Amino acid sequence: NENIPKDEGLDNSLTLMKEGYLFIKNRMDRYHTDIFETHLMGQKVICMTGVEAAKIFYDPERFQRKGAAPNRIQQTLFGANAIQTMDGEAHLHRKQQFMSLMTRPHQKELANMVVQEFEQSIHKWELAEQVNLFEESQVILCRVACNWAGIPIQEAEVTDRAKDFISMIYSFGDIGPEHWEGRRARNRVEDWIQQVIEDVRSDQLKPNQDYPLYAWANFKDIDGKRLDSKMAAIELINVIRPIVAIATYITFGALALRDYPQYQEKLQSRDPEELEMFAQEVRRFYPFGPFLAARVKKDFEWNNCQFEEGTLVLLDVFGLHNDPNVWEKPSEFRPERFQDREENFYDLIPQGGGDPNKGHRCPGEGITLEIMKASIDFLVNRVDYEIPAQDLSYSLSQMPTLPKSGFIINRVKQK
Ligand code: HEM
Repeated sequence: NENIPKDEGLDNSLTLMKEGYLFIKNRMDRYHTDIFETHLMGQKVICMTGVEAAKIFYDPERFQRKGAAPNRIQQTLFGANAIQTMDGEAHLHRKQQFMSLMTRPHQKELANMVVQEFEQSIHKWELAEQVNLFEESQVILCRVACNWAGIPIQEAEVTDRAKDFISMIYSFGDIGPEHWEGRRARNRVEDWIQQVIEDVRSDQLKPNQDYPLYAWANFKDIDGKRLDSKMAAIELINVIRPIVAIATYITFGALALRDYPQYQEKLQSRDPEELEMFAQEVRRFYPFGPFLAARVKKDFEWNNCQFEEGTLVLLDVFGLHNDPNVWEKPSEFRPERFQDREENFYDLIPQGGGDPNKGHRCPGEGITLEIMKASIDFLVNRVDYEIPAQDLSYSLSQMPTLPKSGFIINRVKQK
């Protein structure tokens, strides 16, 4: 590759850990480019950014996911050999199962369940010295996700289960003890959910047919065979864990309400469009997934660069959301940028790009948005609270990141 900038250094894995979300963008800015080559985890890697790069990245003729996710991510975040690592017809067949569980009625139902839980927490919060919004949201989302999916869960175990789901998510950028904590959390959760799947298969548990537990216990892969109980558990976890992850966006939503109070008034109108724009800007503005990874399926040339079969390629999500060529004044939090905006599959990609029915884009965006909107509405219109002094900064070298204090509120009162 004569034509694209090359990052210095034999291996930049440690620099990636240090620079975090900014690793790719720093080099794009330094080399005045939208594509460069580097070395990570002992291999050549091409990093790219921009809307055109996103389109290429989601072309299934050019990229595949097989071999893209490192083992340590599969052992914590995804689960081994799960949907994220699949390609072609086998992937699309499994994807349809996820899509069919995330219909509009299901999105609304989940959001209503979350609001009900928030409402029921008000009294407890009023009596509490202080409330950690991130932790409360995790527990609520874990309870709701399990109840909705049909997974039995005792009230006494919800807090620990929620912590395990969060640990699987928050260990993805880690090495050392945090990584191993993420693995232990995954093992505990997989053992638990695998047993639940087996209870359904042996008729000891009879869940509602329209919901995820029943669906995954009975799902047949493209070869017509039922998934083994471990694989079924892993895919069911791929429904529950990301619902718990919405706690991160609820927390960033609360931070946005504090840092940009001028939007409180607009949101008091409870206008669904205002809520939607606010939630979309939270997903653009605050960092969560830093980049996406795929491997070149067969040789091709694009943007003056040779993509050789097997090469690992990273698409910079954080960089795209902060690219002034794509977003006017990206460092400003401005929900109104979403007013009358034409829908585009490739510029707002916190949950992946392209058509979710045809590629790897997240099937859970509808659920995420509905739960975010309901939670923001709750915080604006259903409770008064104060925000005591605390460290609300979030680090860009920690992936994924979060306000350090988790967002503490006090003097909560029902409105
Ligand atoms: C895939 C982010 C919520 C289920 C993804 C991808 C991202 C993502 C970045 C990968 C896209 C790609 O590889 O091209 C998020 C974020 C969420 C969220 C930031 C908010 C907290 C959800 C929810 C669900 C869900 C609520 C389900 C209830 C999935 C599944 C995949 C996926 C099953 C794999 C899809 C595939 O490989 O075809 N998500 N997601 N996610 N997400 Fe989400």
